[in-house]
Amino acid sequence: MKILVTGGAGYIGTHTCVELLNAGYEVVVVDNLYNSSELALKRVEEIAGRTLTFYKADITNKDEMRMIFEKEKIDAVIHFAGLKAVGESVAKPLEYYSVNIAGTLILLEEMKRAGVKNIIFSSSATVYGSAPEMPITEKCPKGTCTNPYGWTKWMIEQILMDVHTADPSWNIMLLRYFNPIGAHSSGLIGEDPKGIPNNLLPYVAQVAVGKLKEVGVFGNDYPTPDGTGVRDYIHVVDLANGHVKALEKIKEGAGLKIYNLGTGKGYSVLDVIHAFEKACGHEIPYAIKPRRAGDIAMCYADSSLAKEEMGWQAQYDIDDMCESSWKWQTMNPDGYEEK
Ligand code: NAD
Ligand code: UFG
Repeated sequence: MKILVTGGAGYIGTHTCVELLNAGYEVVVVDNLYNSSELALKRVEEIAGRTLTFYKADITNKDEMRMIFEKEKIDAVIHFAGLKAVGESVAKPLEYYSVNIAGTLILLEEMKRAGVKNIIFSSSATVYGSAPEMPITEKCPKGTCTNPYGWTKWMIEQILMDVHTADPSWNIMLLRYFNPIGAHSSGLIGEDPKGIPNNLLPYVAQVAVGKLKEVGVFGNDYPTPDGTGVRDYIHVVDLANGHVKALEKIKEGAGLKIYNLGTGKGYSVLDVIHAFEKACGHEIPYAIKPRRAGDIAMCYADSSLAKEEMGWQAQYDIDDMCESSWKWQTMNPDGYEEK
């Protein structure tokens, strides 16, 4: 089976390409390298010991996408490509709606034209908004997003559901990721954010390696055990394997399916800092700061549906996540550099 991976050079994309190659799939990547490096794909091939096909192309470019679907005989698409910085999306809403929504529409039109009706979409727990109950199951209604990035995920889910209603022969998997962190155990691929990281883990890793002074902890007055925000951190390799399981489900003719991908465990900001201290072997300085606008107190998944229906379950714990992240950070203090 040949899989088109949009955004395959990115953080989650590279880890997924490794697991796809390991599972014997043929992999075609389309990425415009806006937030990634071609070196990451070379590392993917090195880890897997197999090659993939790479197109440096933009999903918003209809001609380029048509050429790829005409040239390659694609069986299924895993759609990661898009913009993902929450804060930036508030400042640049049109760019986010244009790349994420228009890009997805062009991808879907070209899939339809080529007769490809299998797609796995990278959604996010952000579509639940501020969920009334924890853990969050897929039965929890979608909520109100606090930023344009979140709304693009919300709207793309709706577009894909409408595509399925119009033609139920499509197989559509909406995977709602919780907080992916960590890196491949080889230390060769990992998260390589541009500039100062917005997310907790890459920030902590850069403080640990001495590139940043201290971690700002955004609020310690939430109704959580230690007052800091609680999230469901999931190892990126577990997440990657979730996509391999989702492809198996598609082969059964799954129709439209929605799955949470998380561990079911919540860790606070301070828990994460302490787990990272264990991994790197020294103390990590931090300071309590005001709450960050738009943040919720707590968010963790009930992922039992993915276990029941796909046979998928997270294998790695928070220590594995921090150790692999530290290995990636120390082996590649400047990320892929050539980016
Ligand atoms: P990433 O930025 O590392 O990967 C996205 C990739 O898409 C990059 O390689 C980028 O160059 C590429 N891209 C961007 N615009 C493109 C375009 N117009 N055409 C072609 N390629 C383009 O991000 P990631 O963390 O790997 O996330 C992958 C997907 O998962 C995204 O859709 C993201 O919204 C979603 N997601 C991520 C998280 C997270 O915390 N990392 C959580 C939930 C959902
Ligand atoms: N935090 C800090 N200091 C930092 C960064 C974060 O204290 O420097 C805290 C936040 O307040 C929050 C927790 O760490 O309590 C996690 O924050 P992240 O920014 O790492 O992650 P979020 O849960 O805010 O959001 C992430 C992605 C979203 C995605 C969401 C759910 O950034 O795109 O997970 O999947 F939608």
